[in-house]
Amino acid sequence: MDPKFLIVANWKADEPPVYNFTLPDSIEVAIAAPFPLIAGLPNQFTKAAQDVSVFASGAETGEVTAKILAQIGVKYCLVGHSERRRYFGETNEQVQQKLSNILQNDIMPIVCARSIEDIVPADLIMYEPSEAISSNGEYHPAKDINETLTDWQQKFPKSRFLYGGSVNPQNCKLLIENCKLLSGFVVGHASLDSTSFSAIINACAA
Ligand code: PGA
Repeated sequence: MDPKFLIVANWKADEPPVYNFTLPDSIEVAIAAPFPLIAGLPNQFTKAAQDVSVFASGAETGEVTAKILAQIGVKYCLVGHSERRRYFGETNEQVQQKLSNILQNDIMPIVCARSIEDIVPADLIMYEPSEAISSNGEYHPAKDINETLTDWQQKFPKSRFLYGGSVNPQNCKLLIENCKLLSGFVVGHASLDSTSFSAIINACAA
């Protein structure tokens, strides 16, 4: 059976929302919450993390390791998000190190890539064109998503692909219809409001 369509809410460092909806059977919803909130997420949601340490364990004050994430039940972890690359100078070498820590702890990595140069091969790759990220719900992909993912799939045939970049209740259905290669979405801004996030989930289930 095909895996369920995956929708990841990326709460970033925003004020966490309270969701008051139940999930359709056909969709898996994961929440990439700030570290302290992950363990307390409601059971209907899959636990995800927004980042992980490059270190495996040890005397690195302030770090959160893949091992700790696994112990609190994290199933997915974003790595190399464009905001990590832009604000914290994260490199592909660091992404590779994080990836191997995650895999050693049986967590599924979601490698984020603005373009093919960002890709560190993994089972799950998220395409996030810079011009579409956090653009206040507006959607400005310079290049067609289907065109990009068709190209990436030829180069990484074993990967599944997610899309992130101003996904909202108005555009999500069209994105799915225009790109059959999509296995899911990563939703930032629109996941911060229970009504709009629930509308995205229901549109994807329909
Ligand atoms: P956005 O964020 O939906 O606010 O563009 C997506 C992401 O950065 O993961």
